[in-house]
Amino acid sequence: MEREASTERPLCVAYGDTDFDTEHSNPTTNPHFAEVMSRNLARRGFIKGTLGAAIGAVLGTSILDVYAKGDIACEIERSFLGEIRSLGKMVARPGFQSVPVSRPVFPNGVVVPPGYSTEVFLKWGEPMSGSYPAYKPDGTNTGAEQEQQIGQHHDGMHLFIIAQFFPQPRYLMCINHEYIEQRYLLPDGANLTTRDADHVRKEIAAHGVTVVEIQRTAAGWEIVRGHYNRRVTAATPMEITGPARGHEKLRTKWSPEGLMTRGTVNNCAHGYTPWGTYLTCEENWAGYYVNRDAVRPREHSRYGVASTNARYRWDQIEERYDCSAKAASAIGDFRNEVNGMGWVVEISPFEPNSVPKKRTAMGRFAHEGAWFAPFRAGAPAVYYMGDDAQNEYIYKFVSERSWVPLSTESNILESGTLYAARFNDDGSGDWLPLDFNNSAFRARAAAANVIFADQGDVLINTRLAADVAGATRMDRPEWGAVNPRNGVAYMTLTNNSSRQAGQVNAPNPRGPNPFGHIMRWRELDDNSAALRFSWDIVLLAGTEADSRNFAAGPNARLGPDSILASPDGLWFDRGGMLWIQTDMSGSQQASGPFGENAMLAMDVQSGVIRRFIVGPSGQECTGVDSTPDLRTMFVNFQHPQEGRPTEMPWPDGPGTRPRSATVIVTKNDGGVIGT
Ligand code: FEO
Ligand code: CA
Ligand code: CA
Repeated sequence: MEREASTERPLCVAYGDTDFDTEHSNPTTNPHFAEVMSRNLARRGFIKGTLGAAIGAVLGTSILDVYAKGDIACEIERSFLGEIRSLGKMVARPGFQSVPVSRPVFPNGVVVPPGYSTEVFLKWGEPMSGSYPAYKPDGTNTGAEQEQQIGQHHDGMHLFIIAQFFPQPRYLMCINHEYIEQRYLLPDGANLTTRDADHVRKEIAAHGVTVVEIQRTAAGWEIVRGHYNRRVTAATPMEITGPARGHEKLRTKWSPEGLMTRGTVNNCAHGYTPWGTYLTCEENWAGYYVNRDAVRPREHSRYGVASTNARYRWDQIEERYDCSAKAASAIGDFRNEVNGMGWVVEISPFEPNSVPKKRTAMGRFAHEGAWFAPFRAGAPAVYYMGDDAQNEYIYKFVSERSWVPLSTESNILESGTLYAARFNDDGSGDWLPLDFNNSAFRARAAAANVIFADQGDVLINTRLAADVAGATRMDRPEWGAVNPRNGVAYMTLTNNSSRQAGQVNAPNPRGPNPFGHIMRWRELDDNSAALRFSWDIVLLAGTEADSRNFAAGPNARLGPDSILASPDGLWFDRGGMLWIQTDMSGSQQASGPFGENAMLAMDVQSGVIRRFIVGPSGQECTGVDSTPDLRTMFVNFQHPQEGRPTEMPWPDGPGTRPRSATVIVTKNDGGVIGT
């Protein structure tokens, strides 16, 4: 069995390996860079060396197991299998001509390599359910209409397969909507002093997730008026599951038992499962709520719940956004409402009437997304996650129950162990359990004078638990991606202006860190549930002069084809190529040497990186997926013209409003994207 072969491979880590020092070949005035580079060189060898075996042992096993499932969700994995078979026929990638740094403006708002074409699809406001109310370009659609239209500010997304072949391919697209811009959403922007009730309803409806059936016809891609189509918004009732279910800190006037909550907001990146569900992740939710009490509980203050005004002032219309203590007890007010935010939410897109489930076992923080390690039959589900805030942590969730491919079980994410990562300077790492029943964790909490009542309390205060456990503070963990060929996990650290020169460490080697970096780790024995791992840095983003591309060599830097800053989105396609999306903002985006936000492709073996797509002015490139054959790619562009109100609106042009949208990319010869 191939799975058995994987256990025979040599350990990928030699903790404290002295060879790291012998690889030091690039003198620099910054000894920290030298340290990091030498470490990378040593580690690159073993990752390459075990690749071939890993393809069969890790990927092959998991795919064949899932393939046997034979239900709708399994269509996803059937497509994987087809892709694996075609790997051998695939020519080297990236094989396209890199596009230059640029600042595209309407009508040529998106730049792709020669031989490629783009088409704008799934724009904010497109009718997609109910009575399919037409989009009005002057912002006068009502709240009720927005509830039946695609949300604003697209972010992470995943393409589920309904039918891959007959009578024609049909897909279910799930798209996160991270936040809104009132000046574009509403006819004349927002009056924050006196909020209008229907404006607030519309803003709440423009958040959340769009689930929409799509298909390609002879005339092109179109929305199908199918029964799966659904909007999940900041008002949708949701079930609280896992260890915090029913916790006293989740009891509210609306749900006195602490079993339910309403809505999801600031849905940034995402994840999905082999049982056909979508995971939407709540990132910067804290500011949507206000607590004006002089003394605020740690589950508010540690996360930055607003103390003066809620972000969009929804509390003027909706009582639940005011989390001040007003009644005699928690079931008389909404002091605990915000504790229902900060979770991973599991949505079953193939069950349009299902209630989304908040998975408290996966922790409460500024969730960027959730990315699985390769699934293995009979083994736990493992997800990697990042907390995107300055100096916060990277996490791993290992389910209590094992994944059984033929089972109808769909609550595997309900229970398990949450770990926070400690990155040691010697290139090793430890997963630290945030477990109330773990004696070491409890001892550390006691030493820090931190008291947790139970595991629910630990999870509601995940950041505090990770503080106590001794996790490593990181430079804003954004997206992760797991290499389908070998199970190595990658994660972007987008930037960190607050890290000072004296605070650098091996995993965060620049202080301040304006450009960000990408790191990766490999679990001990390639066991995704392991408690130890090895790690290294893949690249330091930045200019040609201030960057490193360790995958290309110890002295390699990024070049004109590959300079980038503030890496955010990250995705391995089914062929094993890594795609990197950028989220620059402020002056770095407006006047820096990197042009507008872009997506680049990287061959992680050779270190070749080429810029593939540059988006319209002011946007963030975030969210990417493809059809199983890798011949149609979907790329989201969020908040075009943010901070550029005088520029021509993308994508509709004169007299319109900027609209976040999904861009479809194809190769003119019908070929595989990236070739
Ligand atoms: Fe929503 Fe961390 O980006
Ligand atoms: Ca992001
Ligand atoms: Ca970002």
